[in-house]
Amino acid sequence: MNAARIVVVGTGYVGLTTGACLASLGHTVTCVDVDTVKVARLSAGRVDILEPGLAELVARGLTGGTLSFVVGAAEAVRDADAVFLCVPTPMGAGGAADLRAVEDVVTEIADHLPPDCAVVTKSTVPVGTTRRISALLGRSDIAVVSNPEFLREGTAVDDFLGPDRIVVGSDTPGAAQWIADLYASLGAPSVVTDAASAELVKYAANCFLAMKLSYVNSIAELCERFGADIESVTEGMGHDRRIGRSFLKPGPGWGGSCLPKDTSALLRMSESTGFGFELLDAAIAENLAQRERIIAKIARAVGGNLADARIGLLGLAFKAGTNDLRDSPALGVASVLCAHGAEVTAYDPAVAEEQPGILVVDSAYRAAKGADAVVVLTEWPEFRRLDWHYMAESMHGDTVLDTRNLLDPDTVLDAGLSWQGIGRPRAVERVTPIVS
Ligand code: UDX
Repeated sequence: MNAARIVVVGTGYVGLTTGACLASLGHTVTCVDVDTVKVARLSAGRVDILEPGLAELVARGLTGGTLSFVVGAAEAVRDADAVFLCVPTPMGAGGAADLRAVEDVVTEIADHLPPDCAVVTKSTVPVGTTRRISALLGRSDIAVVSNPEFLREGTAVDDFLGPDRIVVGSDTPGAAQWIADLYASLGAPSVVTDAASAELVKYAANCFLAMKLSYVNSIAELCERFGADIESVTEGMGHDRRIGRSFLKPGPGWGGSCLPKDTSALLRMSESTGFGFELLDAAIAENLAQRERIIAKIARAVGGNLADARIGLLGLAFKAGTNDLRDSPALGVASVLCAHGAEVTAYDPAVAEEQPGILVVDSAYRAAKGADAVVVLTEWPEFRRLDWHYMAESMHGDTVLDTRNLLDPDTVLDAGLSWQGIGRPRAVERVTPIVS
């Protein structure tokens, strides 16, 4: 592999992970951001994103001289071999991806790119964007390449350095393979294809995961109605290698910076071609329905009236291991509870900032104080290790609603509380599955 000079535009969790990891593979990487404070902090090795291993990689890159941070894309790209676009593409009007940040960067760098440089989109962009960027650049000597990322928040560095696959697509012959070669030392299988196919892989994969979760949440609901146990059902499904064991955990619904935005965007894209994609539409609707079912369970637990009920929430971010509140199902549940007049106190090990209408406290015990019900919304392992006797003493009511099936029900029962999971028999009726 030849070491390349790479510029990464955008230092969010995708951009920063991409930059730091590419530097660790031996490339020389300049990361660009418009935020001068952020650039100064990163240049001093200060990483504000909660991402295991990232701060260490940034420090190593800075010390080794392979990684630097600057403001100003136009200047930075002047001697680049490849420019990776990692700027946000949030959900815009009508559910479609908002491409303004991507287009602004492309316009800014167009006249400054050296001949034969490649522009690579890592941001999740609608199918057809790679071709549109080519038109916007208006330069036949620049190849535009789609190279979607599949990084999960909280494990982004491991996902980057140990990928299941590398996907690269371009309509310029040879360009996609050249970008795939930048990752050669990772030894992952690569899919080298045209631009539209690479763009679609990202949506197809994320939407499949979202559908899988909506499906499993529906099966969990059926388990409750039939008196079955979702743990046994998913165990039985997961051994089938065609299905696999991952993404089979029911929860309060899927959220985060990717799945909600990507499902809406693919639905809109698909509708724009005249294809309704009802399967995906149903998966999105089921995700909202799951949240409603959780709210209804909480309401039942407090006697039917949420007004003035005190609810203690464990978890606010969209999953454990992150402080990201974007499209968080936990935050969604909290705001509906508030809207119904409930008094909501929440604890999340990674979230300290106040949230509208919610009292954010610094321990699970404080969140439980005086609560009519405690609701587990993210799967932080530390919630399993709580002293549930102490929790019970703090609480006013006795219901623990565990929307992640995280806790050991017996521990909660032993503390004199009642435990209710998702898709599981109530603890008293529970039969421990025997798996051999
Ligand atoms: C996701 C994709 O996994 C990743 O490939 C893509 O690049 C970005 O979007 P991320 O948003 O970080 O990553 O979160 P992920 O770990 O995939 O979880 C997504 C949502 O599904 C979370 O709300 C999570 O709590 C939920 N989830 C996940 C479940 O409810 N059950 C599961 O079994 C897995």
